[in-house]
Amino acid sequence: MSWRRTAAGLGAALPLSACAGAQSAFDPAGVEAARVLTLFWVMLGGAVAIWLVVIGFSIFVTKVRPQAYSEKAGLRLIIWGGCVFPTVVLAGLLFWGLGMLPELRRPADGPTIAVSGERFWWRVAYDVEGGPGVVRNLPPGGIPSANEIWLPVGQRSEILLGSPDVIHSFWVPSLAGKMDAIPGRVNRLVLEPTETGIYNGACAEFCGTAHAMMGFRVVVVSKGDYAAYVRAQAAPAAVIEGPGPELFLKNGCAACHSVRGTPADGQVGPDLTHVGSRSTIAGGLLPTTAENIAAFIGSPNHLKPGVEMPSFGMLPEAEVEAIAQWLGSLE
Ligand code: CUA
Repeated sequence: MSWRRTAAGLGAALPLSACAGAQSAFDPAGVEAARVLTLFWVMLGGAVAIWLVVIGFSIFVTKVRPQAYSEKAGLRLIIWGGCVFPTVVLAGLLFWGLGMLPELRRPADGPTIAVSGERFWWRVAYDVEGGPGVVRNLPPGGIPSANEIWLPVGQRSEILLGSPDVIHSFWVPSLAGKMDAIPGRVNRLVLEPTETGIYNGACAEFCGTAHAMMGFRVVVVSKGDYAAYVRAQAAPAAVIEGPGPELFLKNGCAACHSVRGTPADGQVGPDLTHVGSRSTIAGGLLPTTAENIAAFIGSPNHLKPGVEMPSFGMLPEAEVEAIAQWLGSLE
């Protein structure tokens, strides 16, 4: 019956379904990711060649000519098939791969953006001055944002990666390979997107309970749109008066969060000055809507187990809604 065909179809489709879209190393949209993909196919080719020769020899000596070999013939087989061939193939792959490095190490000609891996979200700062220490000093310095990184297309942007406590790994499969965010040092990742679009990123190093919910978005736009975006992010919040901001301050949200233009200047959690302009909240977890913000304030640990933010479920619903409405409006 058709379940066999369905199962066979699913079996064939599942591996391929991971090969396209906004978070796939098989669907590159940047110079570095394209190189990584080429490297993968060539390495795979080399591995398949070695595998075929070794398996071919095994079949040859066990099935085709299973008789005893002279010591000399056996030694020849081992030296050529087991030593020389793999060494030549692996050395060829190694030097070919090393030849890619100068191209990938070309210096940046675009913006410098600091990104710090936090538990469990990404602190972002635009227009930072390059140089070590900048990520550890973050904040202050740069124009703060979180969980969404805008990049100009066709330019080599430099991402300075750090972390205050545990190791994370910054990975946007469509744009570049992984790079660790390590406490006490600054790693540099230069990447050059070649296509505009929205790409998903993830933390690729186990960092704690909410590791799997530590995502982010990368939005690649034209150079002009990038400049306009950073200018808009630098501005203070659009609305700084009303019940929303009053309740935000009264209930202690400002101890952890900043909303520039208001007295809220907490540095523990994400900067919320323009949280409404970001497409997701809680590290790529939920679309940014007032309903989702209210749900997250009411019970963050329920939506994102392991999150550091405490629950505010004891607040009256109307207060949570007023805060969420205000935050959602901050574009
Ligand atoms: Cu951060 Cu895993």
